[in-house]
Amino acid sequence: MKEIQTEKYKWWQKEIVYQIYPRSYKDNNGDGIGDLPGIIEKLDHIKDLGVKVVWISPIYPSPMADFGYDVSDYTGIHPMFGTMEDFNSLLEEIHKREMKLILDFVPNHSSNMHEWFLDSRSSKNNPKRDWYIWKDPAPDGGPPTNWGSVFGGSGWEYDKETNQYYYHAFLKEQPDLNWRNPEVQEAMFNVLRFWLDKGVDGFRVDVMWHLIKDAQFRDNPPNPNYTEDYSPYDKHLQTYTTDQPEVHDIVEKMRSVIDEFDERLLIGEIYLPVEQLVEYYGKDNRGAHLPFNFQLVLLPWDAREIEAAINNYEGALPPGGWPNWVLGNHDNSRIATRVGVKQARIAAMMLLTLRGTPTIYYGDEIGMEDVPIAPDQVQDPQEKNIPGKGLNRDPERTPMQWDSSENAGFTSGKPWLPLMENYKELNVEKEWDSEESIISFYRKLIALRQKEPALQIGKYRPVLTTGNLLAYIRSSEEKKIFVILNLGDSGEAMETNVPFSKAIILASTHAGREGKNLEGTVQLESNEGLIAEIKE
Ligand code: NOJ
Repeated sequence: MKEIQTEKYKWWQKEIVYQIYPRSYKDNNGDGIGDLPGIIEKLDHIKDLGVKVVWISPIYPSPMADFGYDVSDYTGIHPMFGTMEDFNSLLEEIHKREMKLILDFVPNHSSNMHEWFLDSRSSKNNPKRDWYIWKDPAPDGGPPTNWGSVFGGSGWEYDKETNQYYYHAFLKEQPDLNWRNPEVQEAMFNVLRFWLDKGVDGFRVDVMWHLIKDAQFRDNPPNPNYTEDYSPYDKHLQTYTTDQPEVHDIVEKMRSVIDEFDERLLIGEIYLPVEQLVEYYGKDNRGAHLPFNFQLVLLPWDAREIEAAINNYEGALPPGGWPNWVLGNHDNSRIATRVGVKQARIAAMMLLTLRGTPTIYYGDEIGMEDVPIAPDQVQDPQEKNIPGKGLNRDPERTPMQWDSSENAGFTSGKPWLPLMENYKELNVEKEWDSEESIISFYRKLIALRQKEPALQIGKYRPVLTTGNLLAYIRSSEEKKIFVILNLGDSGEAMETNVPFSKAIILASTHAGREGKNLEGTVQLESNEGLIAEIKE
């Protein structure tokens, strides 16, 4: 019975995803930037954590205007990261460990140095002209619409050679491809096939909700909630630039390419309200397998808000749509900085006990925090273009802290971003054998999740509670597991009734709780969370 139940589920439903930002994982050639041989060297770290799915941010040739999210060759490897042979070894080493490799796919825009764009910009008659989004100037000679760039300023760049503008949702070095053009679609689908043929297990698709823009090029309406604290991009609602109805046809086609191969995975990076997000599962789940759910990254750390969000998400999922949860990534402040180092353990417990595939951002397993970046150290183009609004993404992209040696064992050279001062204390080597460390806590939670079908694939049921507490039950046919988390860090303990007569504690943030019984009520200290198996 048990086996039948487990087989119903795909690897990407049962396993945990781990995101590597390759510039910052492990540098093996001493240039201060991480590389593929470095990742190979550290695969056992990921395996020993209990995680099987590795997603690596872009490793393709790129002028690095947006650190690899500006691709100049979709089927190559940037020499800074290694060679195609290194990539082949990485894939082989991953599969040898029965792990999976997910690549980042950046279809919305290429680099302005991609040969497609060089051709496209060369003349109005070039066969590749329509591969990008070109438009005549407005009657006053200015940009054709009011569409902005996420990284500041107009989204339109004037090209005097041909007296037209091209659209770029991000940097001007990242021109948007024209996904309405069938040749673009086919060329990009062949990119997917190239990697799938090699044996890559799936893709995380960059800004999936951006792929199609309004065919009529209408101006975006003003955002009534805009204030000066926001990025200038938020002055307008993205009514005509993102989440267009036709994007779902593209996603469905992408999925069909994925389905030409066995058991591969399509993840979509989508920042949208839940009702729109779940549309990306597609009609009859023929869209993305996992439209990334960023609510734990974006919501205030408040038990009632998070409870409402979980319930709303669970309720909004289409039949057969598999949930997922993300706690951090290379675009957002790290969890330990957002909620504090103690609450970071509560966050880990939540991530690893909610229903759906969890994604861990590298370094969060050792409790890495955002690293302060001095003005002369800034690398991120977003901060350079829109300074002083707290938009710098460098703090969460700093080198992985492996050990107490110089540069935390990341590089023998000069790291491309500074390391946290605390790396001598906070690193993989130091934490691994200490029972109290956050990495040991992560390992315990991961092992528990992977051993208990109730946590891995079981049902979710909310449990009514109050204040800073968040509680729910996960259940399989054999077991019911109760999770209760105190999202407060004020020092105040909280007590609540429990909806069963007896349970045994399986894991806790606090020492000495495991193996104890819960009966009638439970008291949680601030920053305390526990997982218990319901017995009666
Ligand atoms: C989303 C990526 O995660 C981010 O890092 C990048 O800057 C933009 N897309 C543009 O590709």
